[in-house]
Amino acid sequence: MYNPEDYLLVMDGIYKSFGEVEVLKNVNFRVGNNEIVGLVGDNGAGKSTLIKIITGVHRPDKGEIYFKGKKITYHSVELSRELGIETVYQERALGEQQTLWRNVFMGREITDRLGFLRINEEKKETEKILRKHLGFTSKAINVDSIVKSLSGGEKQGIAIGRALYFNAELIILDEPTMGLSLSETRKVLDFVLNIKKSGKSAIFISHNIYYVYPVADRFVILDRGQVAGEFLKKEISQDELVEKMVELARTGKMK
Ligand SMILES: Nc1ncnc2c1ncn2[C@@H]1O[C@H](COP(=O)(O)OP(=O)(O)OP(=O)(O)O)[C@@H](O)[C@H]1O
Ligand SMILES: [Mg+2]
Repeated sequence: MYNPEDYLLVMDGIYKSFGEVEVLKNVNFRVGNNEIVGLVGDNGAGKSTLIKIITGVHRPDKGEIYFKGKKITYHSVELSRELGIETVYQERALGEQQTLWRNVFMGREITDRLGFLRINEEKKETEKILRKHLGFTSKAINVDSIVKSLSGGEKQGIAIGRALYFNAELIILDEPTMGLSLSETRKVLDFVLNIKKSGKSAIFISHNIYYVYPVADRFVILDRGQVAGEFLKKEISQDELVEKMVELARTGKMK
């Protein structure tokens, strides 16, 4: 087993079944400090299930999880958030009808001693996230913009910016580029690089190796509930990685 002290996250011998179906079989998975891990694999491989175990949505049937060297003994979405784990999904990342500043602080409002909302402070902080953390330059977007009016990539950006602002140590992105145009995807990939620059870690799930390859430090290939391979970017070229995935899909094995 990996030494939990050396990594941000260590998952050891994770098993998960839904009814009769064994979805994860003895999965060992880790994320280093300030490391971006690309988690790839076919439809139904178990990627989302694995991250739902990290975020406390599902409880593993067997196996252990360590975060910042400490064993996680109890699983809930609230707890994982408190520990510093945030998830960015393609869908439902933000409330569509809300303004940006309300969205950023939803569930974590800044209040004064009497419990009144400090709106100006929330707006000021949101402005900071937009310009400083995200480098948004568009005049069309400000803290009072309604989420609905943002592009898909901008929405993902806000969700990532919010996670960074609240000091998430580990940001999990499950198919964050699904349904986005090329230029919007470009933005999301830049945001992922921003996570790296700010010293945090991420798990980036995507079907598209061409998106994952440039931003990840390491790749983990999940295949039918098991880790089929693991590569550091410096060990493998993009073409070689694609080749391995194709071979895996074709033969069920990887050389
Ligand atoms: N809540 C659930 N109840 C029953 N089966 C589930 C549940 N969640 C996932 N599964 C099954 O577990 C398997 C793995 O699903 P999972 O969503 O983890 O795959 P994935 O790798 O994220 O796939 P995709 O790339 O399509 O998102 C699938 O066969 C799926 O049908
Ligand atoms: Mg999935």
